[in-house]
Amino acid sequence: MTTPKVLGDVSSEWALGDYHQFAKMALWELGPQLVDACRIGPGMRVLDVGAGTGNVAIPAALAGADVVASDITIENFAVGKAEAAANGVELEWVEADAQHLPFPDSSFDVATSSVGAIFAPRHQDVAAELVRVVKPGGTIGMICWTRRAWICEILATLAHYDPPPSDALPVRLWGNHDWASHVFGDRVSDLRTTTSSFRRSAPSPAEFVAFFEATFGPIPAAFAAVGDQPERAAALHQDLLDLADCLNIGNSGGPAEYLFEYVTLTAMVAV
Ligand SMILES: C[S@@+](CC[C@H](N)C(=O)[O-])C[C@H]1O[C@@H](n2cnc3c(N)ncnc32)[C@H](O)[C@@H]1O
Repeated sequence: MTTPKVLGDVSSEWALGDYHQFAKMALWELGPQLVDACRIGPGMRVLDVGAGTGNVAIPAALAGADVVASDITIENFAVGKAEAAANGVELEWVEADAQHLPFPDSSFDVATSSVGAIFAPRHQDVAAELVRVVKPGGTIGMICWTRRAWICEILATLAHYDPPPSDALPVRLWGNHDWASHVFGDRVSDLRTTTSSFRRSAPSPAEFVAFFEATFGPIPAAFAAVGDQPERAAALHQDLLDLADCLNIGNSGGPAEYLFEYVTLTAMVAV
């Protein structure tokens, strides 16, 4: 039997669970959408921030770009590299915090982040770094959960058990056009946001929760945070079940369904 990893053993909570299994089921198709929105094509140099296992970076490389996949969670790079190899592309994988990117100024034509950089606590630092590493006239593209998204509801529940750092701004803010405009300010022009959504389902709310508990890193991280208090762990599990019951938008008698609402943001770095 393998011992479950706990937060102290890994570089971030996203190394817990099974991120690739989660991404393939929950949001893999967001990557190609962001590649299209940013008009990524042959010869472009692209940085993907919070790349996970490559849902944007791999289709960007398939579109002919020269791609750097960056993330704080280096534990997920091996499976990302295997996924890239299975798709016949090779990327550069670099450990990087979105708030302090280890790349020179103006070194990319495009910087992308699909629900990755939104998890960094300091939004202004993320915006400043994305602008800094992209050439004037280049493109920034992000996918951001809205406050109505199932994932943001989960994060709000987890915060009761595993509070984020006191200086962390809420992830859900990125899903608001005015907030994004505020954090990028006049360093970008032509900032556009489009709201879209999809649904994910499971035979029952309990099975949806079970999938998230097994794969979505912030949940095992919250269980690890209350690890020495069995009653708190039981309360967390119950809160997730209650949330899944309450937010089920499936038809009665059918599978449980959940809303994944997101904003696609594109902007041009000011010349
Ligand atoms: C929901 S996953 C998204 C991964 C991938 N872009 C996708 O769509 O499948 C969030 C990712 O953001 C990364 N992340 C969280 N905080 C970060 C930070 N401060 N800097 C860079 N990456 C970060 C996590 O390690 C994780 O890989």
